[in-house]
Amino acid sequence: MNKELKYSYAILHSVIVDKSYVSIELNKVLESVEKSVNTATITKIVYGVLEHDITLDYFVSQFVKKSPSIDIMILLKMVAYCSKAVNGIPPFALVNEIVDLSKSIDRHQSGFVNAVSKKLISSEIVLPSKSNVKKYLSVKYNFPEWVISELLQKHDVEFVTALVSKELPTLTHIRINEKKIPVADFKKQLDTLGIKYTDSLYGYTLYVDYARLLDTNLMQYVIVQGLPSIVTCNVLGAEKGKVLDTCAAPGGKAVYLASNPDVVVYACDIHPHRVDLIRKYAGSCGVTNIKFFAQDATKEYTPWLDLFDYVLCDVPCSNLGVSRKKPDVFLNKSLSDVKTLAGMQYAILENSAKYVKSGGVLQYSTCTILDNENKDVITKFLKNHKDFELTPINVAGLNLYNDNNMYTFYPNMTGTEGFFIARMKRK
Ligand SMILES: C[S@@+](CC[C@H](N)C(=O)[O-])C[C@H]1O[C@@H](n2cnc3c(N)ncnc32)[C@H](O)[C@@H]1O
Repeated sequence: MNKELKYSYAILHSVIVDKSYVSIELNKVLESVEKSVNTATITKIVYGVLEHDITLDYFVSQFVKKSPSIDIMILLKMVAYCSKAVNGIPPFALVNEIVDLSKSIDRHQSGFVNAVSKKLISSEIVLPSKSNVKKYLSVKYNFPEWVISELLQKHDVEFVTALVSKELPTLTHIRINEKKIPVADFKKQLDTLGIKYTDSLYGYTLYVDYARLLDTNLMQYVIVQGLPSIVTCNVLGAEKGKVLDTCAAPGGKAVYLASNPDVVVYACDIHPHRVDLIRKYAGSCGVTNIKFFAQDATKEYTPWLDLFDYVLCDVPCSNLGVSRKKPDVFLNKSLSDVKTLAGMQYAILENSAKYVKSGGVLQYSTCTILDNENKDVITKFLKNHKDFELTPINVAGLNLYNDNNMYTFYPNMTGTEGFFIARMKRK
């Protein structure tokens, strides 16, 4: 049996059925496979199927009367994807291999798998009619229809089309540690090594070919951090005093905030093992003005009442803004999950607000783009807390969507992943 297909199926099954993280499952398998196995092919199949999950679902559904079991559906999506996008497995060999694999899953289904696979390899994907705009955009750009429906309640079709079709830079966004190297010297070394890069918003941020960077001694100067994550820290404006990061793991923002020696960062997370991640990350970056707490941000901790100059709530969210980086974010998610998350986000914000000093700043951020987890949470909070008011933010060079001083990073406007920031001041 083709080992690349077998391993790809195992990973996809863990991600789709058992809800495991794709990066973790993939790494586990790639570290343990025999030398002869082509790991690039496995990566391509796994990411390809996940990145086109909705499109493939639609394609397969054209050839089946009733939806097969999820295990068989994964196999059919693999056939559909591999036959269109993976060179090196001839179509009929592909069908034979998938049929063999299906026998080890449910041998009664192998005839069905054989028949549908043959149709899939000999057909092209025909998109739904443009008259059904939600379905059309969903299938063409692999965005869930329910997300498109929510977006269309706020924006017109043109905007939503631009948003769901936006392609983002494939290079990795990094922050250069200017304390260790001047940016000009860092760039010179990239040029010498022939490593591709492009400028980003700040002088100390770049998009680089990270795979090439990994093999060099330049890694010591680099922190991988998305642009919205850097922007939210800069916008917070924590110049001095005490900063509370209520949901801090794995630590990207807390450690960046602590690069300012005039602040002390209290980095918290509800999960002790995730607090360890922040501790490790801070240690590896040589940051010392940071304290660590395993703390549930929805539960009041009286010693912290009115204590902080700045409180950042970078809350857990549906991650819908980062689907380009994490192709599994759309799996097993619905509008009701978003609504449940909004309840938790509100609870975190409401409790954390108590820790802000008079005149201090409370900042809320998510990496999602739907109002349910963003504007709606803030609007409800402000209605119930008249002692807080939104403050405008302005990030030169970044085209943020400003909704009454609540700011969404829509990829089609910012060229970044989706994100949201609301910065409030306690009166
Ligand atoms: C979006 S992530 C934070 C990312 C982080 N700010 C960074 O820049 O690396 C959200 C975090 O909130 C944590 N979390 C979830 N519920 C929480 C709660 N009730 N209190 C505190 N942390 C919570 C999760 O464990 C997760 O690590």
